[in-house]
Amino acid sequence: MLAKVPDNSNLPKGIHRVWQLPDERLGTLWDSIVVDEQLKSQLVSQVALNFTLRGKVARSVAPLHGVILLVGEPGTGKTSLARGVANRAAQTFPSAAFQLLEVEPHSLTSAAMGKTQRAVTDLFSQSIGEAAERGPTIVLLDEVETLAADRSKMSMEANPVDIHRATDAVLVQLDALAERLPHLLFLATSNFPQAVDSAFTSRCDLVVTVPLPDANACSAILQDCLRGLSKTFPAIDALLRSPLLAKCAAACVGLDGRTIRKMVINAMARDPRVAVNPSLLTAEHLLAAAEAAVRTRHKKAS
Ligand SMILES: Nc1ncnc2c1ncn2[C@@H]1O[C@H](COP(=O)(O)OP(=O)(O)OP(=O)(O)O)[C@@H](O)[C@H]1O
Ligand SMILES: [Mg+2]
Repeated sequence: MLAKVPDNSNLPKGIHRVWQLPDERLGTLWDSIVVDEQLKSQLVSQVALNFTLRGKVARSVAPLHGVILLVGEPGTGKTSLARGVANRAAQTFPSAAFQLLEVEPHSLTSAAMGKTQRAVTDLFSQSIGEAAERGPTIVLLDEVETLAADRSKMSMEANPVDIHRATDAVLVQLDALAERLPHLLFLATSNFPQAVDSAFTSRCDLVVTVPLPDANACSAILQDCLRGLSKTFPAIDALLRSPLLAKCAAACVGLDGRTIRKMVINAMARDPRVAVNPSLLTAEHLLAAAEAAVRTRHKKAS
């Protein structure tokens, strides 16, 4: 089946992308993220339960809000997992037309000082509410600490009253939507869970920590990246059998998945000849790039 190209013209303010699900690109994205299978399965099941239970079981019995929060360091795959699990939900319930809306939090806060509360209320009650009335809707709230900032930690800089009110509006809207629209689910992500308001976290039906990849996962990510590149540059396939590959993977421990994939590209940039002919990439280039990436990470941490 051909993937439908999202129609992103005339999107309401605050929503920067809409996907009609399922979309095979999101299936590929989901498969490319290497995390514990248990974590993926828990996410898929929690999302499925949202659509199975809500609307059928009283909220006095199961007070679900339809919010799942993914937390973890940058580049660990949170946004990819959120998009991918939305796609899995659409595949789980094939008779329903699911859509995924992606919210751009900065367009609500930065451009509209003093008007954030109104913008947040409009986004939730109108744009999201109306979409969810038409059919099952999943909303990706990336960087949710921007919208639901911890009110107890606000300094008086950067228009705190406005941001305070934005958090209030998010909470009010989540309660109202949870009551009214059982076929709506929010998937939120954050690198700074300590900056998210505790009343928001308390409304989450599940909080999942996406960890940095362990040694096996680093190896799998490295291999997946090389395998993908070998589709265009077949000579790269030989690197998958290099005795040095295990050492490269071990050197990646401590890096996030995004950095590991970028490291492979940086390895190509270590030699101008490889940059114009990636088939010349060697395991030595990879090892040097992995060690350089880890040194950069340590410098940042110290
Ligand atoms: N566990 C992983 N396995 C494989 N690839 C990964 C993994 N984590 C990240 N990546 C790669 O890094 C890219 C970026 O991932 P993504 O944007 O989902 O991370 P994120 O956690 O949302 O980052 P941020 O917190 O900066 O928004 C992905 O497209 C993927 O290629
Ligand atoms: Mg992200």
